[in-house]
Amino acid sequence: MSLLSPRGGRKASILCFAGLLFLLVLYQLGIICGSSKDGPTSVMIAKEKYVMGASDHKVYTYDRTMPLIFIGGVPRSGTTLMRAMLDAHPDVRCGQETRVIPRILQMRSHWLKSERESIRLEEAGISKEVMNSAIAAFCLEVIARHGEPAPRLCNKDPLTLKMGSYVLELFPNAKFLFMVRDGRATVHSIISRKVTITGFDLTSYRQCLTKWNHAISVMHGQCKEVGADKCLMVPYEQLVLHPKDWMKRILAFLDVPWNESVLHHEEFINKPGGVPLSKVERSSDQVIKPVNLEALTKWVGHIPDDVVRDMPDIAPMLSVLGYDPYANPPVYGAPDSLVSDNTRRVLAEGQIWAAKVKKLALQEKPLQPPSASTKDSSDLPNA
Ligand SMILES: *[C@@H]1O[C@H](CO)[C@@H](O)[C@H](O)[C@H]1NC(C)=O
Repeated sequence: MSLLSPRGGRKASILCFAGLLFLLVLYQLGIICGSSKDGPTSVMIAKEKYVMGASDHKVYTYDRTMPLIFIGGVPRSGTTLMRAMLDAHPDVRCGQETRVIPRILQMRSHWLKSERESIRLEEAGISKEVMNSAIAAFCLEVIARHGEPAPRLCNKDPLTLKMGSYVLELFPNAKFLFMVRDGRATVHSIISRKVTITGFDLTSYRQCLTKWNHAISVMHGQCKEVGADKCLMVPYEQLVLHPKDWMKRILAFLDVPWNESVLHHEEFINKPGGVPLSKVERSSDQVIKPVNLEALTKWVGHIPDDVVRDMPDIAPMLSVLGYDPYANPPVYGAPDSLVSDNTRRVLAEGQIWAAKVKKLALQEKPLQPPSASTKDSSDLPNA
């Protein structure tokens, strides 16, 4: 009987089909193709994660390869303004400070510094890979789910940047915005607004400027180490003077399309998809206002004479970052007309803004008087 006969042909194709099916079963079982020749036969794999879009009914997945945005800097350097401007963008959600992310990163670095603890972890099977995936999962859950769903997620816990290169080990496609501000203004703001940061002595400009210098130099080092494609330095004064140019640059760096809404963040306060504010963050009552010049030179005249005289030695990072340590104040530049208009409005409408702060029930005083034992707003030990 010839195989070319109609009967034979059918038989051959049935055989052929059965054979292919057999191979497919073997492949599925991992018996062929070498998948089980080396390595363990079983692995633990996390279920896929996703968040449901509330307003647009879209589903967004989140994982370690996503392009997260981290806003860093010394507290009181414009990090809240930066995140508010990004929050106003329809594609980006930052949200309030979490405080827990720098804490868990700090905890891990303490474990690593202790030889005893490192050995204990290794002996318990908690390898670097297990540890990193656990910490990344913790951070991801917090970042993805503490606020509204969005295609681009962002985190503003300023001191996280001190561990920038480790954050990139966890999230290889993340990017940093490093907010830099004249240290004299930052320290004046920390002291006058009683922002307790562990390690900062709020009674001494000299001590706070020394601490500022240390913190900013660690962050500056991290920003340089991860490279210009991963970390963009944003001078607060320049962002305030020229918001449009800087936001264009920032969004291009982040691969986020331009949207005019970032120049009017004050219109999106506590709105869906907008800028959620915390009642207890000290900067909330400032970011309800449009970008303005109020905060640029408030520090002038408040720093003791001996500290002003020794400024280049106390805070050498000032000149490294381009701030003249002898000028009180230095020339930061001339504002765009949008910003001068905003400033005129803010100054003329003092009553209106005060009422708005009240209406939003934002905290104007600390929850409890700061004391040596109160670490309520300290982000990290040893900032
Ligand atoms: C900017 O965002 C708004 C929503 O906030 C959207 O309606 C508008 O289409 C966006 N514009 C551009 C140019 O993407």
